[in-house]
Parts: sequence; C-alpha cells; structure tokens
Amino acid sequence: MKRFVLLDTAPIPGTDSALCLFEYGEDFVIKIAGGDGGQLMNTRMHGSEDALAALPCQKVAGRREARVLIGGLGMGFTLAAALQHLGRDAEVTVAELVPGVIAWNQGALGAKAGNPLSDPRTRIVQDDVANLLKAARGDYDAIMLDVDNGPEGLTQRGNNWLYSAGGLQNCRRALRPKGLLAVWSASADARFAERMGKAGFSVEQHQVYAHGNRGTRHTIWVGAAKP
Ligand SMILES: C[S@@+](CC[C@H](N)C(=O)[O-])C[C@H]1O[C@@H](n2cnc3c(N)ncnc32)[C@H](O)[C@@H]1O
Repeated sequence: MKRFVLLDTAPIPGTDSALCLFEYGEDFVIKIAGGDGGQLMNTRMHGSEDALAALPCQKVAGRREARVLIGGLGMGFTLAAALQHLGRDAEVTVAELVPGVIAWNQGALGAKAGNPLSDPRTRIVQDDVANLLKAARGDYDAIMLDVDNGPEGLTQRGNNWLYSAGGLQNCRRALRPKGLLAVWSASADARFAERMGKAGFSVEQHQVYAHGNRGTRHTIWVGAAKP
C-alpha cells in the first residue's frame, strides 16, 4: 500500500511556516507544514500547470528573444511547458521564494518535469516574485503566476499584494507591448477577473482539467495588456 514518506522540510522565508516534500509511491507531493493536510502540488496532476505556460507562451513564441517570468518554481511543470513552447533564443526567469524548493528540483524531483532547471534558457532567482515585478519596466513578453492556490495569499500573506489593483498594475508595467499576464487558480473568482480588467488587461478565463480530460478543473486567466 502507498503511504506518504516525508523526505524534507523547507522553511518559507519571512514566515513561521514551511513546505514539506513527501514521496508517495512513484510520485512526489508538496504540502504546507501544519496545514489542513491538503496538497499544494503533486507530480501526478499537472495539466493546468502546463496550460498556465502553454496559453501565453504559444502566443509570444514567435517573438525574437522572448522574455518571460514565472513565479514560482513548485515542481517545475510550468517552467518545462514554457521551455517547450518558446524558441531557442528565449529566456525564462523563474522566481522561487523557498530555497529548499530549488534544491528539491535540482535533486530527484527535477526528473519528473524533465530537469528544466538544466535548460540553458532558464534563469532561476531565489527571491519573492514581487521584488522582480517591482524592479521591472517593460521587460517581459509574458508573466505567469502560480504562487498560491488562487488569487489569495496562501504561501505567505504578502502574496496578497500580487492580486491587488496595485500588484496587477505593476504586472502591466512589467510587460512589453502586447504582453500577457497568466494567473493560476484552483477555482473561479469573478471579482479577480474584474480587477485584472480594471488594471488594463483584456481578460480571457479558461477552465482546464487538472489531469487528463475529466474530473477537477482549474481556472487560468490570461490578460492581454491593453495599449
Ligand atoms: C503551487 S507551486 C507552483 C507550481 C508550478 N506551477 C509547477 O508547475 O510546479 C507554488 C510555488 O510558488 C512558490 N512561492 C510562493 N510565494 C512566492 C513568491 N511570492 N515568490 C516566488 N515564489 C513563491 C512556492 O514556494 C511554491 O514553490
């Protein structure tokens, strides 16, 4: 019988909390320590994490030297999908808050997504993605955010800023002309989509299967920066 085997615990900087990596049969699972036992991610279901990259990256793949930003790394599936859709001259910057998560992806976990950290187009930065966004001005063709379970700070309370009017306007400024912002969520949230619209995006909402083509679906908003 399969059981959860704790492999490592990684503190979340700036909080009293931590992320835990478990082995579960052939798969890996990440949970928040002391949480409700719910999974933040697992290696079995990543259809919507793949789609978070596929939806915007397919649209910007033809641009020369495309530059995209992903927050955060998790299990590397969004990163792997971005690399799959972008050209050889692209650069994918990944901001990951938790040093331990980067180390896990450099170890056995990395193989599950095809070791995307080893791709020469990947630039991994151990930092809060908010810091990269605040420093950016017209830098990225696409920004993909999957740092919580939806537009509400879960990993750390400070993430709420990302989903606020100010955070979304900052994302808009960080994009190149015709840039795209994609945000992952476990469930739909009409008020968030409206906020994206008010921050200067034309918003499409996609419902994407977590795994295969039946069962649970997640929400991905893709906002195109209005001129
Ligand atoms: C749900 S996982 C991302 C899953 C990822 N899309 C994938 O394909 O595996 C969320 C990740 O975001 C990281 N994270 C949370 N808040 C962050 C922040 N403010 N900046 C950067 N990374 C953050 C977490 O440590 C975690 O690794």
